[in-house]
Amino acid sequence: MHINLKINKLDNQGRGISYYNNKIIFIYNALSDEEVEVEITKETSKYYLGKVINIIKPSDKRVKPKCMYVDSCGGCQLMHLSSEEQHIYKKNKLKDILYKYAGIDKNITFIESDKEYNYRNKVELKVHNNTYAYYNHDSHIEVDIASCLLASDTINEIIDYHSFMNIKNGDITIRSNYQNELLIVINCDKFEFFNEPPANVVGIVVNDKTVYGNNYFFDIIGKYKFKVSYNAFFQINNYVASEIFSILNEHIKGDTLLDLYCGSGVMGISLKDKVNKIIGIEINKNSILDANDNALLNKVSNYKYYVGDTSDVLPTIEDKIDVVVVDPPRSGLNAKTLNDILYIMPKQIAYVSCDPITLARDLNILKEHYNITNIYGLDMFPNTYHCESITVLERR
Ligand SMILES: C[S@@+](CC[C@H](N)C(=O)[O-])C[C@H]1O[C@@H](n2cnc3c(N)ncnc32)[C@H](O)[C@@H]1O
Repeated sequence: MHINLKINKLDNQGRGISYYNNKIIFIYNALSDEEVEVEITKETSKYYLGKVINIIKPSDKRVKPKCMYVDSCGGCQLMHLSSEEQHIYKKNKLKDILYKYAGIDKNITFIESDKEYNYRNKVELKVHNNTYAYYNHDSHIEVDIASCLLASDTINEIIDYHSFMNIKNGDITIRSNYQNELLIVINCDKFEFFNEPPANVVGIVVNDKTVYGNNYFFDIIGKYKFKVSYNAFFQINNYVASEIFSILNEHIKGDTLLDLYCGSGVMGISLKDKVNKIIGIEINKNSILDANDNALLNKVSNYKYYVGDTSDVLPTIEDKIDVVVVDPPRSGLNAKTLNDILYIMPKQIAYVSCDPITLARDLNILKEHYNITNIYGLDMFPNTYHCESITVLERR
């Protein structure tokens, strides 16, 4: 069924919001103030989902998306919005969520990415008989692609030229680094080499076994070099990650730093000149092995990394901690970890977050004891609705 609607505003996932039959409707690929013809794609008791069939009155903020897969892939929810307006949208989204869920009304400094495209050092794709596809998380459809505008040029070269290997069914993760090397991780039913890989492929891991080269490589963020293991988390936009390091260095200073959810140790290590000791906690064993190597590589003199769940490990730490950096997954801090941080009561906390809603939930508790001195939004993921942030808190 097709209906004509006027769009009120964008929701937190970059979808246009309107109302139909007294129910809210979320519309993909629509912008604020536009009049659009919509096809309803789903109806539940509480809401409709729809997609734009025809734009009757377009927004002057609309631009033509550069990607030919934009309508089917679903990964770039804001590519039809000019980059200036994407920044405004993300900054306002962060501000509105922090006000709505935590009563925080504070100026936000917004940091842009150096690149709008080709900024990703990692992509994850599905593979079926050597055809590579993105998985659309909304439609649950796989979209065959020959390149991705968000991925680095080096990644796109290997997506284009992958005929040296045969992958039946599975998924592939491709990472590139500062010297255009590639680290490839595959999980699949059947794998074989047809030819020698290109010279810049430094490692291929299939079903957790290294079948070519190494299972790690090195990358650079700012002035630091890091080892990145095949299954460890690593920041995907190197420039914006270096901006995170600068912001942390501007605000955080102390004796003993706790780097919670530390991954390969990158954020703590970036603060090595601002603290005397770094303690890191991380659940992924390979990340912790990397963190130890990275501390040595970057000449950190005093550090200790613990592998395990933050909830279990944090209560066992006996050091006197005075500054904390947290960079949790989207779910944010759980209640136990929040309590443990409040028990430590460090003088400063920097909360790095990729989900404003869980951030607001956690700040609502932390703000009872802390003043929020600075909030930064960072465009880590241009053309998507995602917004990275850093909140700096000082104990009262
Ligand atoms: C957003 S990443 C941040 C990593 C790191 N700070 C960085 O900048 O590279 C979140 C990290 O938390 C880890 N993690 C997830 N749940 C955890 C838990 N319950 N306890 C400890 N670490 C966890 C993940 O493995 C991942 O490395």
